[in-house]
Amino acid sequence: MDSRDEAETVQTSIIRSTGFWAPPDVITNAELVASYNAYAKRFNEEHADAIAAGDVPEVPFSSTDFIANASGIERRHVLEKSGILDIDHLVPRIPPRGFDDISVQAEFAMRAVKPALEKAGRDGSEIDGVIVASSAQQRNFPGLSCEIQNLIGATGWSFDLTMACASALYGLNIANAMIRSGQAKRILVCSPEIMTCINVHSRRDVHFIFGDAASAILVEADDGTPGGWDVLGTHTQNKFSNHLRSDYGFINIAERTVDPDYTPGLDQDGHKVFKDVVSFAPVVARDLMAQIGLEPEAVHRAWLHQANIRMVDMIAKRILGRDRTLENAPSILEEYGNTSSSSVVMNFEKNSEDMKPGETGIMCAYGAGYGVGAAAIRKR
Ligand SMILES: CC(C)(COP(=O)(O)OP(=O)(O)OC[C@H]1O[C@@H](n2cnc3c(N)ncnc32)[C@H](O)[C@@H]1OP(=O)(O)O)[C@@H](O)C(=O)NCCC(=O)NCCS
Repeated sequence: MDSRDEAETVQTSIIRSTGFWAPPDVITNAELVASYNAYAKRFNEEHADAIAAGDVPEVPFSSTDFIANASGIERRHVLEKSGILDIDHLVPRIPPRGFDDISVQAEFAMRAVKPALEKAGRDGSEIDGVIVASSAQQRNFPGLSCEIQNLIGATGWSFDLTMACASALYGLNIANAMIRSGQAKRILVCSPEIMTCINVHSRRDVHFIFGDAASAILVEADDGTPGGWDVLGTHTQNKFSNHLRSDYGFINIAERTVDPDYTPGLDQDGHKVFKDVVSFAPVVARDLMAQIGLEPEAVHRAWLHQANIRMVDMIAKRILGRDRTLENAPSILEEYGNTSSSSVVMNFEKNSEDMKPGETGIMCAYGAGYGVGAAAIRKR
């Protein structure tokens, strides 16, 4: 096929279905703060002399009022509760698995993949490509996407990508481009986010932020089947920042040969992240809207990434050009916390059934990198 033929093969790309899953274990702010404060108290008692001498900083106490007021989060669903709340661990308890067992993250992903395929009436063998788009993958290789591809019985290509909380929309952006250009007919983008393994539950600034959840989006070329959502356009953009970092990675073991006390973690300058992202994310969404000639008044709803309720308020207002309401920019933050890139898909799935054919919405996700992804979709 020459390039002119390819140009003539522009297919319409459709979100055929989505799926999500949040684990049944729930940690309330009260439970989380009780555990964190018990850790802080014990640490401060054990290091009282060093703290008094100014050699070790005191660990500050957290509060439920602060968390609810500053973030809007009331509770979060987590993969394994007891380990997170145990002050000797502060991480989920997850037994290692053998090579012949499904991996923890692939199993987690399948909880969202299966309903997405079922809703579309598709068998996994009909999928051309699988993209795992998530903040982190539990191993370097073989790719998690290869494992999921194998589990659903697909035989095409697959790859993993990471762009923190914007990952799912980066995956959707690629899937949309590949479908439009005729390189694939059906692509599954799944985002299994086990953020409680990445978070540092002993750090007051971040201990309350994340929950766990998985999502999946099935993107297809239009074959005339009714239903689904037309993808009108997608757009992604980055701006490097050090203000939100997770430094867990393959190099940590080597680093500890030089500094045995080196403990990588997750850290942020919450103020800076808030300010930077609130100004950057709407610009990316508005760029997309300008590219496709979509006026803010014509956008019925914005499904935004869920990180902080005040960020949702401000970003919604800048994208929509009007005040945020529960209808035009719904929130699921209270129940789930920040579930990284799965949150925008969960938000869409939980808050889109009431929309009418022809109505248009914008998905927008933002996070570390900074990376921002946006997608404009219209109900068919
Ligand atoms: C993290 C975040 C909720 C903090 O909210 P904030 O209003 O900026 O809070 P501040 O850091 O200014 O702290 C306000 C006060 O509460 C205190 N505080 C901070 N964390 C606290 C906690 N967990 N419990 C009790 N008090 C706390 C601070 O010490 C400060 O006290 P002071 O005024 O006496 O100095 C907010 O900055 C945020 O959401 N940022 C974006 C982060 C994010 O979403 N990251 C992911 C992006 S995808």
